Amino acid sequence: MHQEHLEPGERYDAVARTTRALLAVPKGEVEELARRCAVRGVAGVRGLVRLRDLMMPVWAEFAYELVFAERCPREARDLIAANADDVVTSLKCTGLRHMGRRDRLTRYLLPRLDRVRVPLPGGLTSLEQAYYLQGAFFNTAVVQLSEAMAHLLLVLAQHPGEQERARTSDDRHFDRVINETLRLYPLFGIAHRITSGDIALDEHTTIPAGSVLCFNYPEFHRTGFADPGRFDPARFDPGRCDRPAKELNHVPFGVAANRPCPAWRLAPIAMRAVAREVLGRYVLDSSVTHTRSLPSRGPCLLTPRGAAHRPRLALAYLRVRDRWEDVWRGLVQLVLGTYMVWDAHRKRLCERHFAEAASNPPDASDAEDRYAHPGHQPGARRSL
Ligand code: HEM
Repeated sequence: MHQEHLEPGERYDAVARTTRALLAVPKGEVEELARRCAVRGVAGVRGLVRLRDLMMPVWAEFAYELVFAERCPREARDLIAANADDVVTSLKCTGLRHMGRRDRLTRYLLPRLDRVRVPLPGGLTSLEQAYYLQGAFFNTAVVQLSEAMAHLLLVLAQHPGEQERARTSDDRHFDRVINETLRLYPLFGIAHRITSGDIALDEHTTIPAGSVLCFNYPEFHRTGFADPGRFDPARFDPGRCDRPAKELNHVPFGVAANRPCPAWRLAPIAMRAVAREVLGRYVLDSSVTHTRSLPSRGPCLLTPRGAAHRPRLALAYLRVRDRWEDVWRGLVQLVLGTYMVWDAHRKRLCERHFAEAASNPPDASDAEDRYAHPGHQPGARRSL
């Protein structure tokens, strides 16, 4: 049960309304909450870390407080972070999913539903409400923010000039750094929609209802930019853009007209606050390969500001370890990826979904929706 897996209709509307209500927090409060969580999460850390692992507990606490408006107990933080890590690790086929953890988190949430700071969607059972919270806030929010922060901090670790400029810059420049990071490393690979009506492209071509349309985020983000593989936040300077920002091929939070990310406003504010806290405390260095899927979880050296900064030996070690890990990780991904495809094929998820949809057609109020989502196929809309 996840917002993105719901077909258009009353249930989707109720769930989306609740998500918006939970995310509608004033900017100053988002910054303060994110900053507090970052201080607790990174204080005292130094040396070699994996950025995604460093960020998971920070965003687990952030999501908990966003939902319950109270400080996150350690037990909940560890459960949320471990479950989110499981989700993203298994999506990247670098490890197995532990369903017991997922169930423990659901059982943790169930008796606390009446403490959520906005009313939960009516018409859902308690279990569905717990699954909804778990899916949107303790899974998606934690995973996406941790991945995005790992990309942001890693790219700055590998561009020392940009790191220093970001640390001392105003918010407008920092937003360009985040924009450029999410342009180069969008969190989504291929997203898809299933057409729920015919779409006429021109007088000769019509895309029939029921077609699967794929959208390639990374490819879209590469077109229309000079030297698209280069990390260059200044490309978003109003003085350097030949087009208004709205016309650039840049949709890291999706397309406004069709189920964009409801956290498009909150996420960059929170990321900026956490990044400022990290950059204010540490100098970051890294020599690992930085790819969009980031299976390495972003190995990085953190040197406290004011301490001697001699990263050469650690960077040489990181480089060798990263190349070596790439070898066995590739093998694990091959085995688990093959199993995942085989298993999905065996369960015939699409076929079953469409058979169920045909026997339960959407009600008349849904008929206007041009696009539908592929229902309860776990992970069907998310692609990495
Ligand atoms: C930097 C962080 C994030 C990025 C880059 C991001 C990106 C995206 C994108 C691109 C989509 C649309 C995917 C598609 O085309 O199918 C999406 C959907 C979604 N995101 Fe995010 N996201 C982020 C953080 C969050 C957070 C913090 C939440 C917390 C609730 C969240 C909740 C959702 C939900 C519920 C959807 C599905 C919307 C729907 O189907 O109505 N995301 N996100």
